[in-house]
Amino acid sequence: MPAGARLTTVEEVREDGSFLFTATNSFDMDEEIIVVPCDEDVAADGGTPVDDEGGVAAWINRCTHEAQRFDTGRGVPMRDGEIICPKHGSMFDACSGDCDNGEAAGTTLPDVDVAVADGAVYLVDDDYSFEHDGGIDDGDDGPSSTSHVGF
Ligand code: FES
Repeated sequence: MPAGARLTTVEEVREDGSFLFTATNSFDMDEEIIVVPCDEDVAADGGTPVDDEGGVAAWINRCTHEAQRFDTGRGVPMRDGEIICPKHGSMFDACSGDCDNGEAAGTTLPDVDVAVADGAVYLVDDDYSFEHDGGIDDGDDGPSSTSHVGF
């Protein structure tokens, strides 16, 4: 088992389309990170050797063009193995993070290392410490937090 926080499973990422979590970076700042399905045999710098089930890759949840979030709370918009920026529509390869079109052409998403073992996805990047599932705001413990309350 990799030494790192267990995030989710490959199956859940595939079922839900993506997985969003918040981690602290080496500057002690919160970053949102997305985990997306990646079907290449070996993910590029996303770092995940994959088996027959396919794999996943993880990226900072921010477009390289104008700091637009990909996942704004409703999952990552994707089509044909590419992440779609909701602002201007540039598409990034889910495995390599590369963009060759639109406003963000010629850029690559900053990657985050994850590993898969027994179908589970682990955060194994020394630059990031897992904080919680969901976006940065989902970690607030304020009175409006009702995530575990049923009505
Ligand atoms: S903000 Fe993503 S392409 Fe412009």
